[in-house]
Amino acid sequence: MFDIELYKDRLISDIGEKRYKHSLRVMDCAERLSEGKKVDKEKVKIAAFLHDCAKYNEERYMKELNIDNFEQIDPDSSKSVVHSFLGAEVAKKVYNVRDEEILKAIKYHTTGNENMSLLEKIVFLADAIEEKRSYPGVEEIRKKATKNLDLGVLECLNHNIRYLIDIDAFIDPLTLKARNYLIKEKNGKA
Ligand SMILES: [Fe+2]
Ligand SMILES: [Fe+2]
Repeated sequence: MFDIELYKDRLISDIGEKRYKHSLRVMDCAERLSEGKKVDKEKVKIAAFLHDCAKYNEERYMKELNIDNFEQIDPDSSKSVVHSFLGAEVAKKVYNVRDEEILKAIKYHTTGNENMSLLEKIVFLADAIEEKRSYPGVEEIRKKATKNLDLGVLECLNHNIRYLIDIDAFIDPLTLKARNYLIKEKNGKA
C-alpha cells in the first residue's frame, strides 16, 4: 500500500507548503466523513492526500507525461479542472498509485461525476468543506454532508453551478451530469 511518509517531501516540493497543509486538512475532513461508512479508510487517506498533486505544475507534468494539450486530458474542461484529471495521471505514474478507485476520486474531485463511489463523494466533499474553507454557503454544505453524503454533494454541486453562472464561467458537463444523476436518484429514477 501507498506510504504517505515516503511521498511527503515529493508532494511538498510539487505543490508547496500551503497547498500541502490544505491536503492534510482534506485528509482529516475525509477521515471524519468516512466514519461509520463502508469505505476503505486507507484509500480515503491516500486519495485525499494526493488529490491536488498536479496543481501548479500542469505544464511541467504534461510535458513529462507526454500529454500535448489539455483537450487530451478532458475535452470539455477549463484550466481550473485540468489539475484533477492530470492529477490522476500523476498519482499513477509519478506517485505509483495503482488503485483505480483512488485514481478516480482524484480525477473527479473538482467536477464530480455521475454515479460516484463513496470514496469519490468523500474526497469531493472534503475538498470543498475542509475546516479552512470559508466561502458563503459552506456551512450549509457542511451541515448536509454531516447528515447525508448525497445531500452534501448535491448542495455542493448546486453551489458550484450557481457560482459559475454568477461569474459567467464555463460549467464542465460532468458537474451537470453529477447533479442530474443525484436529482434523478433522489426522485427514485436513477
Ligand atoms: Fe483541486
Ligand atoms: Fe484541493
